[in-house]
Amino acid sequence: MAKQLIELTVNGEVHEIAVATNRTLLQALREEIGLTGTKEGCGVGDCGTCTVLMDGAPVNSCLVLAIAAVGHEIVTIEGVSNGRELHPVQAAFVEHGAVQCGYCTPGMVLSSVALLARNPDPTAHEVQTYLSGNLCRCSGYQKIIEAVQDAATQMNQGGDHE
Ligand code: FES
Repeated sequence: MAKQLIELTVNGEVHEIAVATNRTLLQALREEIGLTGTKEGCGVGDCGTCTVLMDGAPVNSCLVLAIAAVGHEIVTIEGVSNGRELHPVQAAFVEHGAVQCGYCTPGMVLSSVALLARNPDPTAHEVQTYLSGNLCRCSGYQKIIEAVQDAATQMNQGGDHE
C-alpha cells in the first residue's frame, strides 16, 4: 500500500512520518515514532490497553487510523508526567499498588487522567464506570479505583499538575 506523508502532534511535538493509509495510530506511535508505552492487547477495540488521549478524550488507538489523527493533539503515557515528576495519577498507582503486571497501566492512567479532567471528585462507582473500557487481566480493580480517588484528592489539595 502506498505511503502518505503526515504530521502527527504527539505530546506537544510534531512528528512527520510516512505511513500506509491502513496503519493505525497505535502502529504509528509504536513503530514509526518509537513511543512504545502504548500497548497492544486485543487489537480490536475490546480491552482499552492501547488507550491514548485525542484532544483530551480517551480513544482506542488500535481503532483510529493514523491518518485520522492528523490535526489532533495526541497524548500518550510518555507525555503524562511533566518530565521531572510523576503525574499524581501515576504516583497514586505506585503508592496504592495499583500496578500488577503493568500491561494495562498506561491505558488505565490515561483514562483516569481524562476522567479527573472532567470530574475532579469522582465516586468509586463513577471511576468504575469510566474505566469500564479498560480491562485488567490481573483484576486489580479495587486498588486502581482507590488510586484514582486518592489522585483526585491530591490534585484537589493543590498538588496540581501542568
Ligand atoms: Fe486496542 Fe485492545 S488493543 S482496545
